[in-house]
Amino acid sequence: MRVAMIGTGYVGLVSGACFADFGHEVTCVDKDAEKVETLKSGGIPIYEPGLDMLVARNAREGRLSFTQDLAEAVRSADAVFIAVGTPSRRGDGFADLSYVYAAAKEIAGVLDGYTVVVTKSTVPVGTGDEVERIIRETRADADFSVVSNPEFLREGAAIDDFKRPDRVVVGTDDDRARASMNELYRPLFLNETPIVFTSRRTSELIKYAANAFLAMKITFINEIADLCEKVGANVQEVAKGVGLDQRIGGKFLHAGPGYGGSCFPKDTLALTRTAQENDAPLRLIETVVEVNDARKRAMADKVIAACDGDVKGKTVAVLGVTFKPNTDDMRDAPSLEIIPALQRAGATVRAFDPAGTVEAEKLFDNVEFVSGPYFCAEGADVLVIITEWNEFRALDLKRLKSMMKAPVLVDLRNIYTLEEANNAGFAYTSVGRPN
Ligand code: UGA
Repeated sequence: MRVAMIGTGYVGLVSGACFADFGHEVTCVDKDAEKVETLKSGGIPIYEPGLDMLVARNAREGRLSFTQDLAEAVRSADAVFIAVGTPSRRGDGFADLSYVYAAAKEIAGVLDGYTVVVTKSTVPVGTGDEVERIIRETRADADFSVVSNPEFLREGAAIDDFKRPDRVVVGTDDDRARASMNELYRPLFLNETPIVFTSRRTSELIKYAANAFLAMKITFINEIADLCEKVGANVQEVAKGVGLDQRIGGKFLHAGPGYGGSCFPKDTLALTRTAQENDAPLRLIETVVEVNDARKRAMADKVIAACDGDVKGKTVAVLGVTFKPNTDDMRDAPSLEIIPALQRAGATVRAFDPAGTVEAEKLFDNVEFVSGPYFCAEGADVLVIITEWNEFRALDLKRLKSMMKAPVLVDLRNIYTLEEANNAGFAYTSVGRPN
């Protein structure tokens, strides 16, 4: 099939490359000339393991191309995906749909022959109806269906999530659209991946409900971690004992500094706003949002407490600033709350991140970024692990300790054990485990 992917952000680029790899002919469209040039010349504007190879191979084999020319791409497409951003609107937390609607209008003007218009961006319930209305209003004669097909990709594991998903969700009541979507995802159906065909509104809600549930699961275990600290229990063992119950499941029960990223914070907030607007408030999720915000701030207090209650004039070495490993994404990263709070308390902060430095340097004031974990620890009063990059999991703790001014390790991702840290001579603080 011929596919036009509007938006070469994270979702658009990964989905476009993966559809090309399924054998479809994909044109990725972006308004940003520089981005299109970068992509055309083989550069990848985002950090995602494996994406460079996937893009290069499919481009070389002629199935994947990049352009600024939306009209040309849409005219020849059987399916047009809208994968533009839906950021939180300043002030009220609702999803900002202006890019989605602008894309719908532009697409409408150039539709040619039966076309499936698919919303891949995370959009509130009812957006598909509005996209359909806009297209109809712009082009009364157009032959099209609007389908919701949310993505469930995790940054850092996006290609695998696209190619081996737990399920594919498709929201449409239209048989022709259903047939097109079946064709698009054919390689997955051959693998017996479950597809949930449902109504468009239900599909839109599935996406938000899934993210809200995962955010709730993380927040739940984070609060249990706080309780574990008070009563002398171990949150990792609680998570294991609880998660083996198949009704609960063990995934997304890792306690830490609070969830961040481009999705959970934005989507939980948008869902609570939709729920309030429809007079069916989601009080659980409202609380999740509040608890998670407060948690990020509380992590700075944890570091300060580990430094005998005072970081004034001390050097804090931070390992990992991105919201999670295997990404350079800094959006809503816990480090954005923790580091400034430590600075306000009088600390000097030095940091290392394997991929996030370029982005992070724009976001922090007075943080020195260095080129490796051992440089980072040199002369520091405390070492804080905020993001669990794999390369931090097997550090030479004895060497680190010997380089530091004071032997204090705060591990906000529980990647070491008390025993390992103590053996290396560290005073150790982690999350929800006995110190
Ligand atoms: C999330 C969802 O997992 C995807 O299914 C979804 O498609 C995506 O949002 C989206 O809506 O686009 P992502 O934000 O890439 O994916 O990252 P996750 O791996 O879900 O992690 C989100 C945050 O939760 C991170 O800050 C991570 O550190 C934190 N987390 C995750 C925990 O603190 N504990 C856990 O057990 C799991």
